Amino acid sequence: MTYIPRLPSVYNLISLESVGSTNAEAKRLAAEGEETAPDGTLIWALEQTSGRGRRGRDWESPKGNLYTSLILRPDIPISEAAQLSFIAALAVYDALGNIGPTGHQVHCKWPNDVLLNDKKVAGILLESEGGAGGTPADWIILGMGLNVEWHPENTEVPATSLRFEGFPNTVEEVLEAYTRSFLSWTNRWLSDGFDPVRQNWLWRCKGKGEAIEVRLENETINAIFKDMAEDGALILDDNGTERRITAGDVYFPTNG
Ligand code: BTN
Repeated sequence: MTYIPRLPSVYNLISLESVGSTNAEAKRLAAEGEETAPDGTLIWALEQTSGRGRRGRDWESPKGNLYTSLILRPDIPISEAAQLSFIAALAVYDALGNIGPTGHQVHCKWPNDVLLNDKKVAGILLESEGGAGGTPADWIILGMGLNVEWHPENTEVPATSLRFEGFPNTVEEVLEAYTRSFLSWTNRWLSDGFDPVRQNWLWRCKGKGEAIEVRLENETINAIFKDMAEDGALILDDNGTERRITAGDVYFPTNG
């Protein structure tokens, strides 16, 4: 690695040329305990050989894109851990706004994707351990993958990359911008709670008030995207009946 990214000092950066999955590596380190992997330990790899996505999917991870996993040990009940993935989505959103050229559309997509010009550019995978009976989790791993140089073709949800959309930035610049924004959103969350995060996510999300399709494990719902709840659940208006969705994939009628 030639250029060493300059991150805020709260992060303890571990840089790897190649790894199976930064989330798996972060879990392994986190399980060794707080001395090995304190809160703020950030695993960054140039490539992953077994990158993982949500719902057991693969995350193709060639060199050129950003792959990070942040180890967090916040003193919050596990039921609130999902809030961190919305913070990460806002951090990606702001990072793209801060480094990119103007004239691009960036949106958050429930539950935790970021879209650039209506195509997926980043995904977030949150994993945790412990937290039974309302106690804080032992650790939370916040994985984030962002397409810088490369994006997959022919995916169910269309994908893109920064380079394809005309962003000139390097992986290191994106990492620096993301970690700065993540820190600033985390500080706001610690002082003011989830509400400003939720509000800002709602202002920046795609499809609120519109018809969307939500694919669950055993059901597909076509309904109006009404709101995001206090706990991060998606609230739908299904022909006058309110439904709360906690896990699923969202599709927009026009482009998937
Ligand atoms: C998704 O949209 O399905 C989530 C994708 C998360 C991918 C990132 S890349 C860094 C970290 N390590 C992994 O194996 N996955 C996450």
